Amino acid sequence: MELRKRGVVGVPVIAGAAAAVALGVYGRLHDPTGVAIDIAGFSSFQAVKSWLTTLAAVLALLQLASAVALYRGRPQLAPVHRWSGRAAVLVTLPVVAHCLYALGFQYGETRVLVHSLLGCFFYGAFVVKMLALTRAGAPSWLLPVAGGAVFTGLAGLWLTSALWFFTTFGVIR
Ligand code: HEM
Repeated sequence: MELRKRGVVGVPVIAGAAAAVALGVYGRLHDPTGVAIDIAGFSSFQAVKSWLTTLAAVLALLQLASAVALYRGRPQLAPVHRWSGRAAVLVTLPVVAHCLYALGFQYGETRVLVHSLLGCFFYGAFVVKMLALTRAGAPSWLLPVAGGAVFTGLAGLWLTSALWFFTTFGVIR
């Protein structure tokens, strides 16, 4: 791959990797506060996070379906893809803020280690995707691969947290 093309791929990938590592390092070095926030109508902030993560996962499914439709030549679905993607990431922000600030990067059990790693990977992949969108001359595989990585990250986050919460404590608010 000629040098210029390597840069078109290299810059987003390096930036994404740097973002993921930075989140992990912060999550490891920062002393977790264990702070819990009460939200009216919910039994715990864990429940709030699990429902927000579920909303983000549903939006990610909409993202996936609209991406497939886009690649099948339905450009009119582009706004659905863009806005469901923005909403999905936006919904995760209060959740990850609590994970990083109150809980930190933990690895006491496999589920929690995988969850912490996926949390960093998810935002790293999101950075790659956003930068790939703006890169002229990017290879045609870069965007679907980055998009697939973002979706896989969020699906894995849901499986290692919200699903665990609902199967441990019940589907409660
Ligand atoms: C940098 C990334 C992240 C780190 C280091 C991290 C870390 C953690 C840790 C250590 C727990 C406690 C696990 C347990 O004891 O069961 C947790 C719980 C949870 N995380 Fe994350 N997480 C991250 C990102 C995310 C993201 C992006 C989401 C959602 C999209 C998320 C959703 C949740 C949920 C729903 C729980 C269960 C509720 C709770 O125990 O507070 N996490 N996270």
